[in-house]
Amino acid sequence: MRGTKQSVPYEHEMKRLLGYEKIPRKDDKIEYMNLDEIKVFCPATIANISCGFDVLGVALDAVGDEMIVRKTPEKGIRITKLEGQDLPMETLQNVAGVAGLAFLEASDYKGGFEIEIYKKIKAGSGIGSSAASSTGAVWAMNQLLGKPFSTSELVKFAMEGERLASERLASGVAHADNVAPALFGGFILVRSYDPLDIIPIKSPSELYATIIHPQIEVKTSDSRKILKSKILLADGIKQWGNVGGLIAGLYTEDYDLIGRSLVDHIIEPIRSILIPGFDHVKSEALKAGALGCGISGSGPSIFALSKGKRTAQKVGNAMKEVYQNIGVDYDVHVSKINSEGMKIIKKRTGDG
Ligand code: HSE
Repeated sequence: MRGTKQSVPYEHEMKRLLGYEKIPRKDDKIEYMNLDEIKVFCPATIANISCGFDVLGVALDAVGDEMIVRKTPEKGIRITKLEGQDLPMETLQNVAGVAGLAFLEASDYKGGFEIEIYKKIKAGSGIGSSAASSTGAVWAMNQLLGKPFSTSELVKFAMEGERLASERLASGVAHADNVAPALFGGFILVRSYDPLDIIPIKSPSELYATIIHPQIEVKTSDSRKILKSKILLADGIKQWGNVGGLIAGLYTEDYDLIGRSLVDHIIEPIRSILIPGFDHVKSEALKAGALGCGISGSGPSIFALSKGKRTAQKVGNAMKEVYQNIGVDYDVHVSKINSEGMKIIKKRTGDG
């Protein structure tokens, strides 16, 4: 299977994707060119952040996958190990493989890559499991080749992985609100999809996220299918007021404004019916001091943002209690906002 023609079926798709310039970057070339293998941390992410369906996202620090990516002389991408989740290892069926092929097709590199994936984020949990795999692959490859691509270009490659994930789930949509924060770190706004325009947003230093993942499966396709394709103007007005308010609140570190803006008039009322105890979890989180609370991505995870770690932990305990009382199993994470995105955990150079 090494150096196979696996990338050929994707050639046409890649040509479409390559409607942009490669911008070689000079920085760090010497340090990174000699790298043969790196192990990276790929953060979990919260998409939507209540008011910003498909356009807002944020990266987390305390939860994420790990991935080892190594150069091979043979062309192509091979997934050689996948631990933690039952997911396909065939290159064209795996989001990291597809995103990696998009990267490879656009680069001048004559070799290929092997990928080992250690999943810590559960697939279908609503905290960017597929995005962590797609971004980890392309970010690591970019490091290994001396950063020939900008972070915005990596977002496009990673979105090919997201497209596969959503096609597999029959929704066929490539959204950037998980992959962009995973790559840039912190909060991001997708100002436009065509052309892609990602705006990194400043993150207040004391902001913490609490995530509770009820152990049920809600497929992204199902939670997208139930949405209406048209919205009321009156709801739109409230929603874009909140998007602006949230961004202003993040920039000015105005925690009250952040809290007031964490309201979703459009998506949450529809999707929340898929999540057991959602209203109760939310009201208990707010009572425990959360600034705001909503559905993480397409669910079923529920997120809350709080000022300070202690409040975020209190919020986590309040959320847990709801699920303990109604007998739903859960995972809870409390995390600082991850301002740097991907991280290298280990490197190996050509010299060993
Ligand atoms: N914005 C996407 C959605 C995120 O809500 O469907 C999916 O994780």
